[in-house]
Amino acid sequence: MERFVIEGGKALRGEAAVSGAKNACLPIMAASLLIRDVTVIGNVPDLRDVRTMARVLENLGARVKLHDACLEIDTAGVSRWVAPYELVKTMRASYYVLAPLVATMGRARVSLPGGCAIGPRPIDIHIRGLEALNADVLVEHGYVEVKASSLRGNRVNLGGPKGSSVGATIQVMTAAVLAEGTTTIENSALEPEVVDVAGFLNRMGARVSGVGSSRIVVEGVASLRPARYDIIPDRIETGTLAAAAAITRGDVTLTGCNPSHLTAVLSILQGSGFQVDAGPDRIEIAPGEDHQPFQVRVSPYPGFPTDMQAQMVALACTIPGISAMTETIFENRFIYASELMRMGADIRIDQNTAFVTGGSPLTGAQVMASDLRASAALVLAALVAKGETEVSRIYHLDRGYEGLEVKLGRLGAKVRRC
Ligand code: EPU
Repeated sequence: MERFVIEGGKALRGEAAVSGAKNACLPIMAASLLIRDVTVIGNVPDLRDVRTMARVLENLGARVKLHDACLEIDTAGVSRWVAPYELVKTMRASYYVLAPLVATMGRARVSLPGGCAIGPRPIDIHIRGLEALNADVLVEHGYVEVKASSLRGNRVNLGGPKGSSVGATIQVMTAAVLAEGTTTIENSALEPEVVDVAGFLNRMGARVSGVGSSRIVVEGVASLRPARYDIIPDRIETGTLAAAAAITRGDVTLTGCNPSHLTAVLSILQGSGFQVDAGPDRIEIAPGEDHQPFQVRVSPYPGFPTDMQAQMVALACTIPGISAMTETIFENRFIYASELMRMGADIRIDQNTAFVTGGSPLTGAQVMASDLRASAALVLAALVAKGETEVSRIYHLDRGYEGLEVKLGRLGAKVRRC
């Protein structure tokens, strides 16, 4: 199993280019199943999850080619409607094929994703939304099976116990595109990835409006056309690299990013004393001075993203004083804290809040990654820890960060993949 060996203590300097957004790319790849033709997607990150989604599509009969950040998906040969356990268990986003398959073939069968390190992740809101569009949904033998002779537009409220759901909004919006009549989605998620998927659907000839607000309206159309589409920059990779610059007190310029998608994170960095200069598609982070601890409460977009909380907890370890991070979306998302504590971090978890007393030096240790963003937090801590840190199970990182060790290496970090 591959691991990173990181020698800490180097301040990062230079420029790094941000890749395309994983969480927009995966549902857009799935939505290519809405036609039986060729879709071309640009600015595609080369990630393990993207390759897994390609295998899910190939398994259904599609032909997929990835070269130079460009994906070509030919769905002309799609004849199957089942996504098996062997593929879905490695990536829950495989469930995005449900909507386009049922919309075009009248049925879809996808394995239930199963356990997830960051907490329970039910799909009841997806099911409720598809049922509202006239689909029959059966959960049996570990699979969710959706059937519909024809999907029909409806008014759907996707509010859940934790607010709106990114995945359910994308699922229902995608299903509604070819449904008869108009679908109104209340309590839709506002995340930029939802907006990007709608941008792709509209490029194919769909009629989706209201994205970026909590009410999306989809007027069903009879057919769609092939499209070429570029994915937005990954806001979580951007935030992670910004936090890497900050934790090493380095001076880094991030290019090809969209700072307006990251306002909540950048304002915490600024409020904490780091110097952040943002242009339309670049961000420069410099050490600034007199760093202050921070209080953050995770919330859906445009609030502070849950996918950035672990990295900011790592940063808080280097700032004297007590910072607090409250997680509100995924209840087990502090598993990494005990690994950080093995590196000397002073973290106390009280219910869903991590209190971090920062300022004591971190020291290199052998640590184990438990999920994607947790792995990023451990890598960040290792960049400033005294001596060598070994981060094992980095396959989690490879799911969502394209060539992280290469990007960090170019900025002067000492990271080896072993
Ligand atoms: N929820 C339900 N029922 C559902 C769906 C969601 O109760 O049917 C709950 C979830 O358990 C959670 C909350 O609603 O407590 C929000 O979940 P959401 O559906 O918004 O999340 P998701 O679509 O499963 C996406 C990202 C996550 C990111 C979250 C929140 C993808 C593939 N995943 O997940 O990304 O944390 O939105 O922003 O888009 C990551 O990239 O590391 C990652 C975990």
